[in-house]
Amino acid sequence: MRTVDLIQRKRNGEELSPEEIRWLVEAYTRGEIPDYQMASFLMAVYFQNMTDHEVGAMVEAMIESGERVDLSSIPGPKIDKHSTGGVGDKTSLIAAPLAAAAGVKVPMVSGRALGHTGGTLDKLESIPGLRTNLTMDEFRDVLSRVGFAVIGQSESVTPADGKLYALRDSTATVESTALIAASIMSKKLAMGLDGLVLDVKVGSGAFMKRQVDARRLAQMMVTIGRRNDLRVQALITDMNQPLGRAIGNAMEIMEASQTLLNSGPEDLTRLSLELAARMIFLGRVTETLDDARLMAQNLLLEQAGYRKLKEMVAAQGGDPQVLDRFELLPNAPMAYEIYSPRAGYVAAIDAEEIGRASAMLGAGRDRKEDTVDPAVGVLLEAKVGARVDEGDLLCRIHYSDEQRLEEAVERIEDAFRISTTEPEARELILEVVG
Ligand code: URA
Repeated sequence: MRTVDLIQRKRNGEELSPEEIRWLVEAYTRGEIPDYQMASFLMAVYFQNMTDHEVGAMVEAMIESGERVDLSSIPGPKIDKHSTGGVGDKTSLIAAPLAAAAGVKVPMVSGRALGHTGGTLDKLESIPGLRTNLTMDEFRDVLSRVGFAVIGQSESVTPADGKLYALRDSTATVESTALIAASIMSKKLAMGLDGLVLDVKVGSGAFMKRQVDARRLAQMMVTIGRRNDLRVQALITDMNQPLGRAIGNAMEIMEASQTLLNSGPEDLTRLSLELAARMIFLGRVTETLDDARLMAQNLLLEQAGYRKLKEMVAAQGGDPQVLDRFELLPNAPMAYEIYSPRAGYVAAIDAEEIGRASAMLGAGRDRKEDTVDPAVGVLLEAKVGARVDEGDLLCRIHYSDEQRLEEAVERIEDAFRISTTEPEARELILEVVG
């Protein structure tokens, strides 16, 4: 087989066979196909899409690029949660410890910042000492002791996703339903889960800008999961403005901690509770979803999720004190404030622009070998619907490098739309699929 022939056929909109897809994924993972050819193939997929058969074959090949993890020796339902990517989306760090506190085991395989969106691994690694590159034995140990453990793709688990994810991030090929579904579902199926709650984001800060595309992605992932005997539910949720107030790695750890202490932003708290409830329900800890909602709410009030997150941080080598002493986390040395140019209502905060600005400040990557700056980010002081006067503070930019500030400021100023009319309230949870 010649890579160039497969690229050409995909570029022309043809369907590739499962053998051809498998060959591509295997050869790329082994380093036998150069990045420039794989990038070209991904761009062809971006424009031509993939059939359900091709996506199924891609998921299978990506799982087979590493080991299938057997967690059956660890008692309890194994339920994970995954987001398709958003701005300020730190719900994993809230929903997972709440579900773990309810008795669910959460073996989480997370990703890094992708495009303008953040990644749970980068957020967690802003905690001094915390490791996400656990060996499988360490991962099993944390999972059975704490009930919640987080790793990334590695040499052993879906290494193909690790390589493809980084390549997509630096070649503008992230926003493809097929590639997102294959990336997420391969990681999740490799873990031998019992259930999975998906948060499919839609809106300016999401990879899917239209609800119809988000629904298609949700249906695709639910179908792949069901074919593999996985209990799956997907929520389609609004990502037109950032979730919560903090955007940036260490700042999002601080906000997750505040939310687990029940003093977080309303939108973040509400969505995290719903995701936790669905994890608890899929884990069959309760008989009804309403009981699961009540349980998640009570666990939040008892600070049980907060204690669970602390346990997990300590078990993965991090300093758990950072969750109440924020000065122990990386803090950016400089701050720049943006004020409202006029009186009115905040009518929109373009999440993609805020995400891009934050990535530009150093919270994300330009090239796959770049490292992120854990301290930088944006803190929103006003959210959509807020009434502001001229000169009121809209947000604070936390930055470390003067040269990166100017363009970020422009983007953030453009992201805010101030209007004289009060915007209509938007639903946060738009649909449930599955
Ligand atoms: N999350 C993933 O793991 N992969 C994607 O492609 C997008 C979001």
